[in-house]
Amino acid sequence: MDHRSHKVWPMDGIDLSVRIGPLTLKNPVMTASGTFGYGREFHPLVDPGQLGAVVVKGISVRPRAGNPPPRIVETPSGMLNAIGLANVGLEKFLKEKLPPLAKLNAVVIVNIYGHSESEYGEVAAGLKGIEGIAGIEVNVSCPNVERGGMAFGTDPEVTARVTEKVLKNSDKPVIVKLSPNVTDIGSVARAAESAGADGLSLINTLAGMAVDIEKRIPRLANVSGGLSGPAIRPVALYKVYQVVQTVHIPVIGLGGIVDYRDALEFLILGAKAIQVGTANFIQPTASLDIIDGLRRYCEEQGISKIEDLIGTLEIS
Ligand SMILES: Cc1cc2nc3c(=O)[nH]c(=O)nc-3n(C[C@H](O)[C@H](O)[C@H](O)COP(=O)(O)O)c2cc1C
Repeated sequence: MDHRSHKVWPMDGIDLSVRIGPLTLKNPVMTASGTFGYGREFHPLVDPGQLGAVVVKGISVRPRAGNPPPRIVETPSGMLNAIGLANVGLEKFLKEKLPPLAKLNAVVIVNIYGHSESEYGEVAAGLKGIEGIAGIEVNVSCPNVERGGMAFGTDPEVTARVTEKVLKNSDKPVIVKLSPNVTDIGSVARAAESAGADGLSLINTLAGMAVDIEKRIPRLANVSGGLSGPAIRPVALYKVYQVVQTVHIPVIGLGGIVDYRDALEFLILGAKAIQVGTANFIQPTASLDIIDGLRRYCEEQGISKIEDLIGTLEIS
């Protein structure tokens, strides 16, 4: 019998919820850090309360202006950015950005970074005990800053130490965001897992650059930047594939996801959830469209719980 002809549950009866360690999300779709502001900027076009979670722009202890312009360049099927982790800083985030977002019933994951191992701990400590924060995502993988970011995430031992530092200072679930700019992502993933991370997210941007041939200068003031968008999706899929084979903690997949079909590739591979990044700049409602698409796909395929689909990749 063709199960597709027997839809026994209404469309809105499909269970899209997923568990990421101690966190249960109502659906597997989050917005990626740095591409959705502090979550309110897209409202009312996108109601952040409808998303699985909103991952806010990376927060540091002190405010940061970021790199000088130009800091964004369009590239084939993607973009390069060298924002340099510009952000309002911990204090202003807690006072001005978090309360309105929490009021919209959004599940908020705070992306954090530091310039030293101890600064990661300081940001985590500053978020301790604060209501309206569901989890922390630790950025050890930003390629656009001189110190900090990727320098931490390319070394398994340093990744483990940063993870421990954050866990020690935190009362929230901790997700470590990994860099693709490494030879063996499995060893960094294992290090974060051994240190106690509740989950992993990957990938951050791929290091890259572009040249202005008229002026013969780099197109980014920072010279190099991070490549994102559909151009990186096959790389992201393979890195996620490698990591889900290696660790037992939940993995969140991202990199070049534009529509629900892209999201499905990651879920079928074994990612428990996905994040939508650069696509938000092209189609602001991309994340909501993906939730709708996933629901429709489940209905057509006769899947009542999306968790049943996760990790169903067959390799002969
Ligand atoms: C403009 C911009 C800013 C970003 N800022 C951050 C950030 O603050 N922290 C972080 O962990 N990742 C940051 N990222 C990386 C994204 O969250 C994501 O990992 C990456 O763009 C790949 O996903 P995508 O191809 O869907 O955009 C940023 C990406 C872009 C394009």
